[in-house]
Amino acid sequence: MVSKSAGEIGIGMLGYAFMGKAHSNAFKKISYITWPPPLEPRLVGIAGRDTEAVGEAAKRYGYEYATGDWRELIADDRIGLFDNGGPNSLHAEPTIAAAQAGKHVICEKPLGRDANESYDIWQAVAATGVKHLCAFNYRFVPAVRLAREMIEAGELGEIRHFRGRYLQDWADDPSLDTWRFDPDAAGSGAMGDIGTHVIDLARFLNGEIKTVSGFVKTFVEGRKVDDALEAAVEFDNGSVGTIEGTRLALGRRNAFQWEINGSKGSLAFDMERLNELQVFRADGERARGFKTVLVSETNHPFWEYWWPPGHIIGWGDTFVHELHHVLKSIADDTDIAPYGATFEDGYRAAEVADAIVRSGETGQRETISYRT
Ligand SMILES: NC(=O)c1ccc[n+]([C@@H]2O[C@H](COP(=O)([O-])OP(=O)(O)OC[C@H]3O[C@@H](n4cnc5c(N)ncnc54)[C@H](O)[C@@H]3O)[C@@H](O)[C@H]2O)c1
Repeated sequence: MVSKSAGEIGIGMLGYAFMGKAHSNAFKKISYITWPPPLEPRLVGIAGRDTEAVGEAAKRYGYEYATGDWRELIADDRIGLFDNGGPNSLHAEPTIAAAQAGKHVICEKPLGRDANESYDIWQAVAATGVKHLCAFNYRFVPAVRLAREMIEAGELGEIRHFRGRYLQDWADDPSLDTWRFDPDAAGSGAMGDIGTHVIDLARFLNGEIKTVSGFVKTFVEGRKVDDALEAAVEFDNGSVGTIEGTRLALGRRNAFQWEINGSKGSLAFDMERLNELQVFRADGERARGFKTVLVSETNHPFWEYWWPPGHIIGWGDTFVHELHHVLKSIADDTDIAPYGATFEDGYRAAEVADAIVRSGETGQRETISYRT
């Protein structure tokens, strides 16, 4: 008989729309793509506001029940992992309640609506001893993990620059009405939504950010959250860089691009071509320029789960890697860090984001102090 996984874990999902769908899809795929899974995810319950729509979602994704009250998930002993894909204002209370009920927790980014709320979530959840992951899924793109491994191995030498920009254009419509434009629900605009992704990958690839000088701008009349942010940053390792995010870059749909330059070479990446890593090595190859590495070899990160080389994967598969990482950490009792973002990482990203906002308001460079 084929050996199966060590056991199963009940999943409680909050939210059934964009992230609810992406995470549910990943939990289902983990069961057979990463065979044998570290723990078999059992889709127990899903919560939302609209009971008819959440009932439909439960049927569609395969949850055993749907509820209009997330507290039902917290009270359900069959649920061992609570996954929060709700709007930002709904991150703190349910996530803390789940952890205090002894459930491991995943919370979508940004962790809280600002650094204070993010810090409180981190502290309350860490005190319970459960595993916690803040869902910065771009850490789980194979090319991004490969870049991290190359940087860690010293292949780029001394890092001098990190340049990251996340460009979208969907918000260029004054008639759009979404929780993402409501400061109470979202906390901020492009900053929390996509700026924090750039901050997290900057930290993931190049270490801690020490100082920032930035500004934040709203272009669309009447909008109460920011549309765009720009910052010059300095890292603990002495390198310098830029962080940019906008939801108004017309024609750019989901262009999360970064480049890192060291004394021995450079790496560059574009989310819209997520299977590729651009690699430049200074030694002896200077005249040849950047080389495109198709990150799909069997020895490349995460490729043990997938297809023969060259049979590429997609955006949704980053969640398979991310949630698999959580299940493995639970099964083996290993740390979510350093490859997964913990709630401390979620908090630190928020601290950088707040510093960019403050710097924009005062016109002064901000030195960031991280709470412990
Ligand atoms: N990691 C990523 O790349 C990524 C991408 C998109 C969104 N996100 C994050 O995921 C979270 C959710 O975003 P989304 O795009 O899925 O939003 P969405 O609007 O598509 O879905 C939000 C879900 O929350 C539910 N909800 C809203 N208010 C509720 C309430 N009061 N009680 C119960 N349920 C409620 C809605 O019914 C819906 O199912 C946000 O924090 C967002 O920043 C992360």
